[in-house]
Amino acid sequence: MAEATADIAATEVRATPAAAKALSAAQRLALRYFLVAMVLFLVQMVFGLLAGLQFLMPDFLHGALDFNVNRMVHINAMIVWMLYGFIGSIYWLVEDEAGVPLVGIRLAQATFWVLTIAVAVVVIVFLVVQVGPGEMRSIWLINEGREYIEAPRWADIGIVLCMAAFFYNVAATFMKGRWSGISGTLVLDLIALAGLYFAGMFYTTNISVDQYWWWWVVHLWVEATWEVLVGCIMAWGLMKTLGVRRKIVTTWLYIEVALMFGSGILGLGHHYFWIGTPEYWLGIGGFFSALEPIPLVAMVVHAVYDAGRHGFQSNNHPALAWLIAHAFGNFLGAGVWGFIQTLPQINLYTHGTQWTASHGHLAFFGAYATIVVAFVYLALQRWRGDVWMSGGLPDKGRKWKWALALLNVGALGMTIALLIAGYEQSFTERAIGGSTWQAYFAGQTTVWFVQAMYWRMAFGVLMTVGLLLLLWDFLTIGRGETRAAKVVPGDANTR
Ligand code: HEM
Ligand code: HEM
Ligand SMILES: [Fe+2]
Repeated sequence: MAEATADIAATEVRATPAAAKALSAAQRLALRYFLVAMVLFLVQMVFGLLAGLQFLMPDFLHGALDFNVNRMVHINAMIVWMLYGFIGSIYWLVEDEAGVPLVGIRLAQATFWVLTIAVAVVVIVFLVVQVGPGEMRSIWLINEGREYIEAPRWADIGIVLCMAAFFYNVAATFMKGRWSGISGTLVLDLIALAGLYFAGMFYTTNISVDQYWWWWVVHLWVEATWEVLVGCIMAWGLMKTLGVRRKIVTTWLYIEVALMFGSGILGLGHHYFWIGTPEYWLGIGGFFSALEPIPLVAMVVHAVYDAGRHGFQSNNHPALAWLIAHAFGNFLGAGVWGFIQTLPQINLYTHGTQWTASHGHLAFFGAYATIVVAFVYLALQRWRGDVWMSGGLPDKGRKWKWALALLNVGALGMTIALLIAGYEQSFTERAIGGSTWQAYFAGQTTVWFVQAMYWRMAFGVLMTVGLLLLLWDFLTIGRGETRAAKVVPGDANTR
């Protein structure tokens, strides 16, 4: 019933594309989240370039901005900008999906500022305090020391409070308006996502126990709850850009969620092979994580089928292109690049080499950067007055097409360069050298490894140029456009 009403709403929205109404307060808030996300994306790139340069020139900025700091800012900025992108996307769709204005807009606006100021303080402290004692005071004020979620405890608590406020805004809006398959899945997923964050907050002196819980956050985020979250927003995005029928996207969503949780939760075991946890994890982790690519294949089929079914007739070409990049990037980066190193027999050789970084780069970029970019395009189209963003843009769409190409070719090139470095490390350090300390260094001085590090930089520069172009496109696309958005003959209209 809820779905039927929502279907009608979709038809109405789509039938009046030219009605360029002013943005709602929640939509303006979404734009603010997107703005911070894009600034942090740029920060991520800059610190990635610095860390990459330090592979080639180990003395570069030594003592001023050490490698560990650059690497930390690089990956923490990434996690935060992606979360900002998700929050922005959810604020963007929540009113449309619920059919009522956002509940508690003032709280939502205040939360944005609290969160953003906290993020800025954390980054500044990271940069200013680079060394110090490992004591409780440091954990509370400076750095918690857990990769990807290094924010100190005061910030952790602040983040949890902000997430609670965000959750209230979203859940209360759906409760006041109407529920759908997408929103129900989304809200349940948000509970899991926020709850998992607690696993990364407490301190134990046993490194195996510490790592055990830390993986609950990192793995169960990116391979379970984040995947489901992007599944939900992708479902909404496909309805909006292509006019796919709600029943179809919801059915796919349920199948993907079942497969994702079915394989991803116990797939956690692929991080428990060598950290001092019991041996049964070898079997459990190997088996379940090997199944993880299946839902990712389903997503590719879903997106390509939908796009093909609608003859690629979308009302927002850049958004559709990035949604398709997401489907393929997720499948390749997470599914294929994860799968190739997930069996313990192989992971024994590849663990913690550049294979890992190769997978990490393609997976985060392919699965998550892409979908946030798609949503920014959706939001910009509406902001600029529901304008035309299909074929035949004034500059022939050169900027968005080049940005798409440079970012994706850059990410793929970097992935291949890192894979070559990792392959060589597994060979020299592990297979031949037997994992000795000496072999560890031998593995990083061979010509294959060193050349790969140069290639990584070259592709990193390509990606950075692509990002600059993308940001330029965000600032200009649709400005001065007089044509209304294309009306796509979607299922929602033809029923
Ligand atoms: C979008 C989803 C995914 C993202 C963003 C992602 C990201 C990452 C990252 C960043 C790491 C490195 C963690 C570290 O710092 O040690 C990692 C490790 C790993 N991932 Fe994924 N991953 C995803 C999905 C998958 C999937 C589906 C599989 C398996 C099919 C997989 C298998 C692995 C394995 C085995 C490791 C450990 C590598 C090692 O031993 O060093 N990942 N992943
Ligand atoms: C200018 C482009 C980039 C450069 C030069 C770069 C460079 C680097 C470097 C040097 C590291 C440290 C690797 C190590 O410790 O061995 C790193 C780690 C990482 N980067 Fe990037 N990066 C870039 C873009 C990106 C993008 C776009 C993403 C994802 C959206 C990303 C995600 C990651 C992740 C997840 C890690 C941790 C990987 C691991 O521990 O295995 N990077 N990057
Ligand atoms: Fe994992």
